[in-house]
Amino acid sequence: MKINSLYLLFATIVAIGLGSCDKRTQGTTENEYRHQIDSLMALMTLEEKIGQMTLFTTDWGSTGPTIREGYQDDIRAGRCGALFNSHTVEFTRQLQEIAVNESRLGIPLIFGYDVIHGYKTIFPIPLAESCSWDLDMMEQTASIAAREAAAAGLHWTFAPMCDMSREPRWGRVMEGAGEDTWLGSEIARARVRGFQGDGFNNADRVMACVKHFAAYGDPVAGREYNTVDMSERFFREYYLPPYLAAIDEGAMTVMTSFNDLDAIPATGNQWLLEDVLREEGGFNGFIVTDYTCINEMVEHGYATDETHAGELAANAGVDMDMQGAVYHRFLKESVESGKVPMSTIDAAVHRILWAKFKLGLFDDPFRYCNADREKAVVFSQAHQEIARDMARKSIVLLKNENQTLPLINGKRIALVGPLAADKVNLIGAWSGAGEGDKCVSVLEGLEQQAATKNFTVLYAKGCDFNGSDRSGFSNAVQVARNSDVIVAVVGESKDLSGEATSRVDINLPGVQQEFLEVLKATGKPLVVVLMNGRPLTIPWMAENADAILETWWLGTQAGNAIADVLTGEYNPSAKLTMTFPRHVGQVPIYYNHKNTGRPFDPNSKWTSHYVDMPNTPLYPFGFGLSYTTFSYDSLSVSAPEFGMKDTLTAQVTVTNSGTRSGEEIVQWYVRDLVGSVTRPVKELKGFDKISLAPGESKTLKFKITSSDLSFYRADMTFGPEPGAFWVMVGPDSERLQRKEVRLME
Ligand code: BGC
Repeated sequence: MKINSLYLLFATIVAIGLGSCDKRTQGTTENEYRHQIDSLMALMTLEEKIGQMTLFTTDWGSTGPTIREGYQDDIRAGRCGALFNSHTVEFTRQLQEIAVNESRLGIPLIFGYDVIHGYKTIFPIPLAESCSWDLDMMEQTASIAAREAAAAGLHWTFAPMCDMSREPRWGRVMEGAGEDTWLGSEIARARVRGFQGDGFNNADRVMACVKHFAAYGDPVAGREYNTVDMSERFFREYYLPPYLAAIDEGAMTVMTSFNDLDAIPATGNQWLLEDVLREEGGFNGFIVTDYTCINEMVEHGYATDETHAGELAANAGVDMDMQGAVYHRFLKESVESGKVPMSTIDAAVHRILWAKFKLGLFDDPFRYCNADREKAVVFSQAHQEIARDMARKSIVLLKNENQTLPLINGKRIALVGPLAADKVNLIGAWSGAGEGDKCVSVLEGLEQQAATKNFTVLYAKGCDFNGSDRSGFSNAVQVARNSDVIVAVVGESKDLSGEATSRVDINLPGVQQEFLEVLKATGKPLVVVLMNGRPLTIPWMAENADAILETWWLGTQAGNAIADVLTGEYNPSAKLTMTFPRHVGQVPIYYNHKNTGRPFDPNSKWTSHYVDMPNTPLYPFGFGLSYTTFSYDSLSVSAPEFGMKDTLTAQVTVTNSGTRSGEEIVQWYVRDLVGSVTRPVKELKGFDKISLAPGESKTLKFKITSSDLSFYRADMTFGPEPGAFWVMVGPDSERLQRKEVRLME
């Protein structure tokens, strides 16, 4: 293998400057990195620098238009410093060899990929995982996703998505952490810790990419890629914190979003990228665009042509162009004409090379290319066990009349519905290199437990997700009649949520609703297992099903996890992180709304309400049942008043009042009763996830300081205001008890 002479020269500089890789990755100071990077940059032409600012997809799949072909020639010519949609040791090694051995400077490539909820072992979709409220588990699944991805040659995941959203019409809510800012921030941190760990010494972690900056989760009317328009106060208070939490946790890269915000496309928004992200947020990694975002500034009507778009992006602080080839084609000319300062290019290249150093790629460009490790790590048995556990922890029990669940021994179960035996949809959208046919179906999961639990499973599909074919109904009804209980597995196919899948109707698609009605008419107990990527409107089901399990898309081990919950092997504990509306007309509906000047009063027409539907959701944020019950004794507080520098303690004792062990997610909320600006009726500020044996109690303490009560005041400064507050606690965002306290000047 021919090693390029300039690369050798550079490698020598690095070796002299840094000693061993261990020393570099473990203890090298920023200044030492800077010096090495400067030495390399002194050797680079402008074209080569722009090459480092260019990210191209390979032909292994894409999520948008493929503008360029011939990426191998681009690598060879130093026109591309990073690639995405290429993975496996074999393929990444092949491409890295071109970069290292055939390009003039031999600068190694970074390989990125959308490893959102797993690489080959697919975990529940992020929205599902968020319902576990289990930060340690979310960190663990992210770390396994990273380990598998790194073993397959990858250095960089385009995750976590930190877009908060109150918009179930928007298909990408499946990729986020739900509607709450505080919880979303904690989850963002956990995921960054999982992906990046303590760093890259063992080449088993990947760089995180916080996306999509910013406010992509609130497109007008829920339509994908649409305009986002909100006040700066609202942006800072609800949408910005999860991104900044991820940055604070050390996330190394950020991706811009497709949308415009306050009429400026995010990718050309200097205020957003320089002032908010870098200055205020302290971000010092590199910023990549989303797929062809620079080009799209022309369609936005913000740039006259792609040259202009490239100038706007570079000057706004965008370091790397994903797939648009705008920097590649036009940036040189923009630098030469003085439209983009050379210092801007140098700063961007410096940040990108810094990431390559951190990854250890200058010491060994192939350190992520170990075929033995790939074989041992990817889709290992140990990972399946964690996937099963995470999947069980993500299932929300929405209804359980007359203890229909768990299913008891000796039953004949009619397992019906389009998703009952399905495998391919279980991995959900954004499932990396996951293979649907490796998933455990619900049918397989239940059959595996049938012998030990002494029950029989009779299967009939009944209908499809979509279309109007009802011909399978009668067979399914026959199977239902011959059984003791019906388990109907219905929902969305995986391509109905994710990117570019906005819906105006968030009911069950196709004839599935009708199918449930026909099953209900048999008079047998009806258990509905839902699979979907967003909250659905399911009022009929809430009224008529005997039990409902919201299972989202649970990934590789979905069938085993669902069987564990159906049979009572596992007692469900998850709670919703997004409100379920009764009707799409209520959207956006969220728990932390304002009171309005005319809060709803059933005795007064002139108060805030709909004439055809209650204001309340079908299932509120934080809601979820268990096979046991929990009782809360009275909430107490350590003092009726507290000062700006004091800590107030609220306390409640929770008891398992049922007959089996279970976990409860105890939720703490506050309300600021009067402010210099109006405040929400409640805001989540903490939670405890506890495990209790029957009859066991635990006393929980929640500490509140004035900083927990801070917000953007009338003058846009961030801080607390003295006055009256409610401290609230309960099992979900509606069933809350409260105490009033006063924060003193
Ligand atoms: C998505 C990003 C993703 C990128 C690369 C885009 O369409 O919005 O989230 O990382 O494609 O696949």
